[in-house]
This record gives sequence, structure tokens and C-alpha cells, in this order.
Amino acid sequence: MPKNKNNQTIWKSRIKKSSALFQKIGSSIEIDKNLYKEDIEGSIIHVEMLFRQKIISFKVKDKIVFGLNKIKNEIKKKKFTYNNKYEDIHMNIEKRLFEIIGDDAGYIHTARSRNDQVVTDFKIWMRFATNDINKKLNNLIKTILKVSQKNIQTIMPGFTHLKNAQPISFAHYMMAYVEMFRRDKLRFKNNLENLSENPLGVAALTGTSFDIDRNFTTRKLGFLKPTNNSIDTVSDRDFVLDFLFASSVCSLHISRIAEEFIIWNSEGFNLITLSDKVVTGSSIMPQKKNPDLLEYIRGKSGNSFGNLFSMLTILKGLPLSYFKDLQDDKELVFKSNEILKNCISILNEVLNNFSPNKKKMLELAETGYITATDLADYLVKSYKMPFRKAYKITASIVNFAEKNKKKLSELDLKDLKKIEPSLTQDVTKVFDLKYSVNSKKSFGGTSFANIKKMITKYKKNI
Ligand code: ARG
Repeated sequence: MPKNKNNQTIWKSRIKKSSALFQKIGSSIEIDKNLYKEDIEGSIIHVEMLFRQKIISFKVKDKIVFGLNKIKNEIKKKKFTYNNKYEDIHMNIEKRLFEIIGDDAGYIHTARSRNDQVVTDFKIWMRFATNDINKKLNNLIKTILKVSQKNIQTIMPGFTHLKNAQPISFAHYMMAYVEMFRRDKLRFKNNLENLSENPLGVAALTGTSFDIDRNFTTRKLGFLKPTNNSIDTVSDRDFVLDFLFASSVCSLHISRIAEEFIIWNSEGFNLITLSDKVVTGSSIMPQKKNPDLLEYIRGKSGNSFGNLFSMLTILKGLPLSYFKDLQDDKELVFKSNEILKNCISILNEVLNNFSPNKKKMLELAETGYITATDLADYLVKSYKMPFRKAYKITASIVNFAEKNKKKLSELDLKDLKKIEPSLTQDVTKVFDLKYSVNSKKSFGGTSFANIKKMITKYKKNI
């Protein structure tokens, strides 16, 4: 029986035997098989271009396209056998193409290298992943707006240093996260610009002597222009850093809201209740309902940052152009992408399955002399005094209230007058929490009217 020659690595003609250990460890197929669709799409457009440029014949082009489509089907139907020995998805597909169409498969790699092939596939993949994340973020924003809509009049303490600062609407707090997730969307969207440059055709690092048409492949693969410098093209992983950075910042936002909800869900704060859908129990303490999902997403941000740091470290000090070091880029990105998508979904699930404890929020907002700043503002406005003087008078009133174990709203006008004789009954209105929240009418402030307007505006922009 003739020996099956196809069962050899592409470089068998040059390299007699490579270490089995390295074949196993150096292979990236388990990771980059994720790129099969993009790889096949890129290859089909590549050979179409080679044919248009009269570099390969119609017959060869047709055979290759037929073979590639067959391979795509095999992979989709999980009938494709991957082989570690062929290192990555690019070579696994090429080897299978030889099996299907014979030696004409050998034309496919004309005027290209895996170096441009891999970044082309990766950029196409990332364009889709980026748009997908933005869709998920839109969903999350819709959920936040739904919660906000129901809680415009829900008053809670706004904190600084986790100490009661000034009363706010719970909706206003929630919508702070809308701003963060909108910035995340923009950050991802901005990345699309670097992703719009087509690497295909720079070959290994120098470009090619074949008369290729990079504008054709650019158009057909959904890019906007070909990359300018062949060496930079195969060395560049800035788009990877951009993706990992955008993912990290988004994970960080998710981690911050998770942390706050964990605190608020504690018995100490008791500002929110998580429904049974989003808590887990303890193996020993029967009473427990733990916010594990929130802890999970808070923890996962660490993986995301780690991936960003790994990539920065891989690139630091790496000479131009392609090195094996770069192979790890895909694992980092795929993992960060998976983490982020899961975390967005989990946060969405939590936000659909919790309720604010409105009574407790209000009670907490009634402590800590939270309307002191309102009193100071009132003094400035009603008595035309400088803010610093008003601050001093208010501090004396707070000291008095604290000493007498009273809330500001429980002080008698008589007592207030001892500190500031010109005060009248009118002043007591500023101790009302609703009055306080609603008075913050400056643009971006927590007044109910502002919040309503912002909800409408956000909804329009989704
Ligand atoms: N598996 C490789 C990677 O993902 C493909 C590029 C290989 N290029 C090379 N010159 N070895 O980075």
C-alpha cells in the first residue's frame, strides 16, 4: 500500500522530525478552531482575488471554494477531525483541503502567510464579538432603565466614604451605571476603527511579488482599507489590547455595582433583597441566602485584568515581527470575551430579580444629618450670606442636634433660633428628604424631573 503522504506536516520536506512534546504543547488548535468560519471566509475571498488577478485558474479557484465549503459543513456538523500535529486551524483546514481536492489545494497559500491570515481571521472575529457585546450592553441598559422607571421616587442615602452624604433617588443611582455602560459601548465601538484595516496580503512580513488586489479583499471581507505597512501588520496586536482593555473596564463597572449590591444586601444595610433565583445557600447554615452570583462577577473582573496584563507583557520587548509568543493572544481574548458576556448576562439576571427595600432606604436616609447641606444652601439663598458662614452655622446646628440626640427635622424653631436668630418656621422644609432630592435641579442632578427626562433620552438613544 502506498504511504499516505498527506499525513505529514506542511514543513515535513524541510524538518525531519519535531519533538512530539512540542507538537502537543505548541499546538493552538484547541483555541483557534473558534476561528474556522472567519478562516474559511478569508480563504474563499483570497482565492477569488487570486483568480481575478489571473494568478490561479478558474478551475483551481472553483475546486478550492468547493472544498472549503465542504470543510465548513464538516466543522459545523462536528464531523471534522482536528489534528494537533497540524498546529492550528489554518493548517488543519489546508490539510483537509488536500484530502478533498488533491494537489490543487496547494494553490491556496499563494501570496499569503499564516501571519497575515491569522490577524485577518482574528480581526473579523473581533468585529463580530464587539458588536455582540454592544448588543448585550444595550439589553443591560434597558433593564437598568426599567428598574429606574419604577424607582424615580424611591429615596435613599447617597454615600461618600460609605457615610450618608445627601439624599438621592434610587433611579439616579442606577442610572449612573447607564452612563458607565454607555461609555463601555463607545469604547468598544471606537475599537472598530482599528479593526477596519485589512491585514490580508502582507504575507509573512514584506508584502508579496504577486500582483494581488488588496482593495478587493478589503471590500469583500468588510474592512475599510488595507493596512499600510506589512511589517507592522503582522507584529501589531494593539487591537487585541484595545479589546482586552475595553473588556476590563466594562468588567470593572460590573464589579463595582456587584460590590455595592453585596453590601446593600447584607443584614447591616438591608437596602435590597435578592430573589431566590440569584442567591445560593450554605452547606452548614440553613438560614443563609448568599449573593454568590454577584461575588462571581466581582471576582471575574480579576481574570479580565489578568488577561490584559498578560498581553501587555507578551508584547513588551517583543521585536518585530511575528513570534510564537503572539499565539497566546487568541486564548486571552476568547476568555475575556466569554467572561464579559457571562458577567453581563448575570448582572442582567440579578437586576431582573431583586427589589429595593424602599422603607429601609428611607429610614437610613433619615439618619446622619443628611439634609445638612440643604440647610446651608437655604441660609445662603434666604439670608444672602456667604456659603462658608452658612456652613459654620449649619455645623453648630448639627452639633446641637447630635448632643441632644435629635434628628434635624426634630429640632424646635426655638432651638434653631438660639444658633441663628433670624431663622423662621420656613426653614423646616429643607429637612424633608423629597424636597431635598427634588431641589437638585441642576443639569445631571438627582431631581425627579431630571431623572424622567434622562430616562426618555436614554431610551431614545438605545
Ligand atoms: N498558530 C499561529 C498563531 O496563532 C499562526 C501563525 C503562525 N505563524 C508562524 N509564523 N508560525 O499565532
